[in-house]
Amino acid sequence: MVIFLFYTYLAATKSPRSMKLIDGKAVSEEIKNTLKQDVIDYKNRTGRVPHLAAILVGDNPASKAYVSNKVKSCQQVGFNSTLIKLEEDISEEQLLTHIRELNENPDIDGFIVQLPLPKHIDDVKVTLAIDYKKDVDGFHPVNFGRMAQGLPCYLPATPFGITLLLERYNIETAGKHVVVVGRSNIVGTPMSILMSRKSKTGDATVTLTHSRTKNLAQIVSQADIVVAAIGIPGFITEDMVKEGAVVIDVGINRVEDESTEKGSRLVGDVDFVKVRGRSSFITPVPGGVGPMTVMGLLLNTFKSANKEIYN
Ligand code: GUN
Repeated sequence: MVIFLFYTYLAATKSPRSMKLIDGKAVSEEIKNTLKQDVIDYKNRTGRVPHLAAILVGDNPASKAYVSNKVKSCQQVGFNSTLIKLEEDISEEQLLTHIRELNENPDIDGFIVQLPLPKHIDDVKVTLAIDYKKDVDGFHPVNFGRMAQGLPCYLPATPFGITLLLERYNIETAGKHVVVVGRSNIVGTPMSILMSRKSKTGDATVTLTHSRTKNLAQIVSQADIVVAAIGIPGFITEDMVKEGAVVIDVGINRVEDESTEKGSRLVGDVDFVKVRGRSSFITPVPGGVGPMTVMGLLLNTFKSANKEIYN
């Protein structure tokens, strides 16, 4: 109901310019429906079912919500899923033992370790311990390096999901100036590489900006396509966005809002209400990039089950 009202509000207050809402929720449903049929065919052909596992360490509420969403999506498309919940104080060695077991289990096609991890665990060590052939998050340096060289690999789930949205909405990227805001290993950095590669949703001129960038607002204002992945609520304001720009909001930030039942709500890295009037396309939060991250993960897992990337 709340989501229905949100979209009704958007439709009613839409700018007279031709702003188009990029509906990640709807695109993810289309992908799930196609995948569901592909899984039935796969099962008939091979007698087995694709299987994704997830390791969740501790009680971070956002991580719990993301992982439960991933498990739910597996059920919706007919994958098997295994959720391994571990205590916050588990030792690094115990976590590595779980990873080795998943690496060796032939029934598991792919698995993820939900980030962030508790401070006493070295996430680089954890990422390196995952068999790159089962690294359906695309975080292992083998997959990252292959991505950078345009070789077959598991693309990181969020950048993968964004490229699917750009394709679905026929958004031209060749020759465009893309400004990525944020240089994380899981979104900003891979996104900047992908969009500069020679590909259907690439061939762009990319500027990667971050916390030490000078004149950031002025650089963003030159972008044909803005990818906001800095993790600061409402960071991209109206004055920073060129008229007609495409705005991709990767942020998922929970902010206090006493007017809601929960006392909080989710917002992106973009001041959506103000910026949408200037944009040609924009992703909402929630319902934009978020659902597409899960699709990236499911599609990578299905590629693994089909041995499409590695034998
Ligand atoms: N934390 C935030 N995004 C992600 C993701 O895509 N994968 C994992 N494993 N952890 C995350």
